[in-house]
Amino acid sequence: MGHTELAYKILFDEFEVASVVAEPTLNYNLFVAELENSQAEQLKIFNKLERSLQFYNGESFRNQVHFQFANQTPVQRWFSYREGYSLKLVDAFIKELRIKGNAFDPFSGSGTTLLASRMANLNSFGIDVNPISVLVAKVENEQYTSEDIIQIEEELRKLTDIEKSKDNFQAIFDLAGKVFNQEILQALLQFRQHITAIQHEKTKMALFVAWLSIIEDVSNIKKEGNGIKYKNRKRTPNGYINIEKEKWENDKFPDNKFSFVKTKLSNRLEMILSDLQFDYGNCDKKPSIFKGNCLEFDKFFSDEIELTFFSPPYCNCFDYFEIHKIELWLGEFISNKEEFRKLRNSGFRSNTNSLNHKPITYKNEYLENLISLFEPQKLWNNNIPNVVRGYFDDMYTLLNKLYRQTTKNGYIGIVVGNSAYSGIIIPTDSLIATIAREIGFKVKNIFVTRHLTTSSQQKQELEYLKNYLRESIVLLEK
Ligand SMILES: C[S@@+](CC[C@H](N)C(=O)[O-])C[C@H]1O[C@@H](n2cnc3c(N)ncnc32)[C@H](O)[C@@H]1O
Repeated sequence: MGHTELAYKILFDEFEVASVVAEPTLNYNLFVAELENSQAEQLKIFNKLERSLQFYNGESFRNQVHFQFANQTPVQRWFSYREGYSLKLVDAFIKELRIKGNAFDPFSGSGTTLLASRMANLNSFGIDVNPISVLVAKVENEQYTSEDIIQIEEELRKLTDIEKSKDNFQAIFDLAGKVFNQEILQALLQFRQHITAIQHEKTKMALFVAWLSIIEDVSNIKKEGNGIKYKNRKRTPNGYINIEKEKWENDKFPDNKFSFVKTKLSNRLEMILSDLQFDYGNCDKKPSIFKGNCLEFDKFFSDEIELTFFSPPYCNCFDYFEIHKIELWLGEFISNKEEFRKLRNSGFRSNTNSLNHKPITYKNEYLENLISLFEPQKLWNNNIPNVVRGYFDDMYTLLNKLYRQTTKNGYIGIVVGNSAYSGIIIPTDSLIATIAREIGFKVKNIFVTRHLTTSSQQKQELEYLKNYLRESIVLLEK
């Protein structure tokens, strides 16, 4: 047995073949009479598509495919990147697949794959289109000497001495007055000005990430579902009610707003310092992290890759820029609406704001058959069919380029969730597996880590097909 097979045995012995996924196939004839036409059609497509794919029960990964525990993980907790996965997940794959060569994450987000690679003493590369992600990943993966730590401690001391300024600071975005209490906004802007004037680069960046990471907490909004929501809008049994902004702010925030913001910032910095002193781990290897489009990763580096481990945007219209828009504006990563529009347009085609008139050249019969079942009057946006096509067109380009740069017997691990539009499921995991096979990869396993829920409207329609609404890890080998 070669070492890779052995690694498989160790990694996968604990997983049984998932009966959850096989069930609809077995009961197909029984169900089909009861199903509506479009559901029966979907089942037919899924059966054909998944006939030769192996699904495994990956429930032991279910708590690792999201960020829940990252908020307690040293270093990863510096910035709450809710779209991220856990460090343990990547670590398990690196160890069990016995990766010794380069690692890569084309959607590096907060840099989890890079952090795990660095801790396993691997060279790694990361790319993301979002400047906030790139900054967070860089700061979390920086090499800090004891001199750097002393500098950060010194800045923490200075921070505690800062007094409220009499200046009137200006935010460059028109929502600021709604999103923040006026005094809190002034305090945030004053601290930003202070931080950007720090000379020592690593200290400045660490403080800037600390500052970015407290914004949501001290604001009037929260990240929820597919966007941001106002905290003063409460759901009641009789629908939503808006609590008046000033009243809500007075109840929620203490009288001394300046010191409230200062304490939040100092606490975050203390956490960073504590992780640096006690939990930073091995940092001999510093990942190379680029801001750019992963479809052009070959322009950034040409080294061979042994493991690419990533979670792409899901094909569910989630807009990563919308969710980070307050931090993007307040941090002055963007300075006008046109820049924001361009940024949204530069991402993977996974939502209606990311469509960029790029032609769609990749054709997939299963996908077209599923799209033909969409009911246009039930879609909330006419562009959804092209989002779905664009998504797999981009995925095809990416996997093709990855194939070329992956070492022989190298691996690709993809954490991805399926989605549904107008009651039609897009089985992204098995579609990716099929595309990868067309390109030349072997599909080793698809681990089904958990089942997903959908909007209550679609829930009933999808009752018989709910097993296909899942979040999986697709493992490919070259
Ligand atoms: C699911 S998140 C990845 C989270 C990451 N695994 C972590 O643990 O933090 C997907 C990321 O893809 C990025 N992204 C979207 N389109 C991209 C593109 N074309 N090139 C590179 N990154 C992209 C988003 O900004 C987002 O950070």
